Amino acid sequence: MTQVLTPDAQGLTTAAELLRGGGLVAFPTETVYGLGGDARSDQAVARIFEAKGRPRFNPLIVHVPDLETARLFADFDDRAERVASAFWPGPLTLVLPLKAEAGLSPLVTAGLDSVAIRVPAHPVARALLAAFGGPVAAPSANPSGKVSPTRARHVIDGLSGRIAAVVDGGACAVGVESTILGLIDGAKLLRPGGVPAEVLEACLGHSLSSGGDAERPNAPGQLLSHYAPSSAVRLNQTAPLSGDFWLGFGPEAARSDLNLSASGDLIEAAANLFHYLRQADDAAGGRPIAVSPIPETGLGRAINDRLRRAAAPRQ
Ligand code: TXA
Ligand code: MG
Repeated sequence: MTQVLTPDAQGLTTAAELLRGGGLVAFPTETVYGLGGDARSDQAVARIFEAKGRPRFNPLIVHVPDLETARLFADFDDRAERVASAFWPGPLTLVLPLKAEAGLSPLVTAGLDSVAIRVPAHPVARALLAAFGGPVAAPSANPSGKVSPTRARHVIDGLSGRIAAVVDGGACAVGVESTILGLIDGAKLLRPGGVPAEVLEACLGHSLSSGGDAERPNAPGQLLSHYAPSSAVRLNQTAPLSGDFWLGFGPEAARSDLNLSASGDLIEAAANLFHYLRQADDAAGGRPIAVSPIPETGLGRAINDRLRRAAAPRQ
């Protein structure tokens, strides 16, 4: 049985004890719910892969409470220090050289000599990291390849019985996963996410190269089909066919079945994205889901990235 814990002192103490015992606890972050396990324990990390049905070549993100702790696990050069100071805590993951002596399970990094690390901003995630007192490996808390969870209910729907507990902290404010910035050779955008690429570029003072290669994923969300609802998904539909379920965006989609943001606000659309994809999938009952065009700027890049994967041919 998967326990649903409240995010108070008692719930967090229980969650931290479960983590210490090598168990899996899902918890809210500002982006999506993560499926947490002790990042130093081979057994706990192996359980994460098993619970999600995730390929083991796909490494995990390590969550820590602050930059000082992050420096124990990764080498920070000047650029890494600058972006970490600017955006942590927050929806940014850095891929940096691993400090091999720091004691992370090699399963976390899939044997790479780099590590993905982030400091989440959500108060419940921060309280859990403090109560546990160690690094927490956490992919999104959904079965591999499915839509990411932004509510405790979504976690239960996908993973009930496969994990020890979920801490219910309500809806996630950002709604799409963290931006992944690789700072090993050059500065590469490995995954668009909660911090818009333009904002990172302004901080670094130069543009980012794109690091994605769907054939050889080095950032996991890069497997082409991902976030897949059971209905077919058609993108950039301004006038959907009758019979389609219309997932709209903006005032032009006033007649849509569900609107990601009636006012055309990308922040609101990101926060609604995964929840509405699930609702659309339930309501569509097998009909295709037609999605309005989303502008490719700011959080729109992360939204379009997720939608393209939701629409990709299934593996
Ligand atoms: O917002 C988020 O990032 C959420 C919350 C829970 O923190 N987590 C998340 O984890 O999205 P996950 O496992 O769904 O995505 C982690 C991504 C994967 O695409 C993986 O390939 C990439 O991070 N990654 C991890 N370690 C890496 C490394 N050393 N080099 C390149 N990519 C890495
Ligand atoms: Mg994921």
